[in-house]
Amino acid sequence: MLGRTPGNVMALRPLRDGVIADFDTAELMLKHFIRQVHEGRTLVSPRIVIGIPSGVTGVERRAVMDAAQQAGARTVYLIDEPVAAAIGAGLPVAEPTGNMIVDIGGGTTEVAVLSLQGTVLSESVRVAGDELSEAISNYMKKVHNLVVGERTAEEIKITIGSAYPNPNDNEIAMDVRGLHLLSGLPRTVTVKSAEIRESMAEPLSVIIEAVKRTLERTPPELAADIIDRGIMLAGGGALLKGLDTLISHETGIVVHVAADPLSCVVLGTGRVLENFSQMGRVFSGRSSL
Ligand SMILES: Nc1ncnc2c1ncn2[C@@H]1O[C@H](COP(=O)(O)OP(=O)(O)OP(=O)(O)O)[C@@H](O)[C@H]1O
Ligand SMILES: [Mg+2]
Repeated sequence: MLGRTPGNVMALRPLRDGVIADFDTAELMLKHFIRQVHEGRTLVSPRIVIGIPSGVTGVERRAVMDAAQQAGARTVYLIDEPVAAAIGAGLPVAEPTGNMIVDIGGGTTEVAVLSLQGTVLSESVRVAGDELSEAISNYMKKVHNLVVGERTAEEIKITIGSAYPNPNDNEIAMDVRGLHLLSGLPRTVTVKSAEIRESMAEPLSVIIEAVKRTLERTPPELAADIIDRGIMLAGGGALLKGLDTLISHETGIVVHVAADPLSCVVLGTGRVLENFSQMGRVFSGRSSL
């Protein structure tokens, strides 16, 4: 609905950049989810586990717990999203070995080194998939004088976007519709994969730098484990073509993409709920009873 609503309808994003942007709407959304899960059965107030980006402030964490309690939760447990993503991606987080997970979401990229169910070190940058789309939309305006909406920019990224050169780049192209800046009229422009890759170079380098910085800070024993096991990519951004090759090229370490990158965090969070008693150490916070 974003960008497509008539004057009397407003599309809201309760969350932005991984944190609550609109408290009341976030609470309504949680209420809706809780109702959906209970499917009309009598409401018992549930125990809720919520994944949060590791870099959020205390105030932002508090807001998540408050919204869930207002929405009817009995106890709220917080789990760092990189830990949940690693569990969802099938990494052996309970073992005393170093695992690196890079979760590239919409608003935030989180890089974390985990061992023994905990975060050893992590870094979070507020540059991820949405920033890549934004770079494409800025490029379309600047170079092709074409104004495109958020969804169109994302569609370009998903359809022909890539992070690493591919021999067929010049043959991969796409027709893009938007508003021509000079005439003010709708127009179709053909763009090539190679130019889209270049337009994303800046945000991509921010993501690469975050991975490199985290590797540099990793204690040597854990770094050795990561070299052996490779880096795991999760989050929707991991689906960008060639991103694994780019990160591998820049770090010299093997990179794997999780089987279902968009669902890693929620699958991992679910696994934690199912094995609640063995998983006590994974939580980074809980509400008081
Ligand atoms: N096939 C694809 N190729 C490239 N990017 C994709 C693809 N599919 C989804 N994305 C991008 O993935 C991002 C969403 O990923 P994800 O659902 O993991 O984010 P999120 O968890 O909602 O955000 P955050 O973790 O920042 O709070 C969007 O920017 C979307 O454009
Ligand atoms: Mg995410």
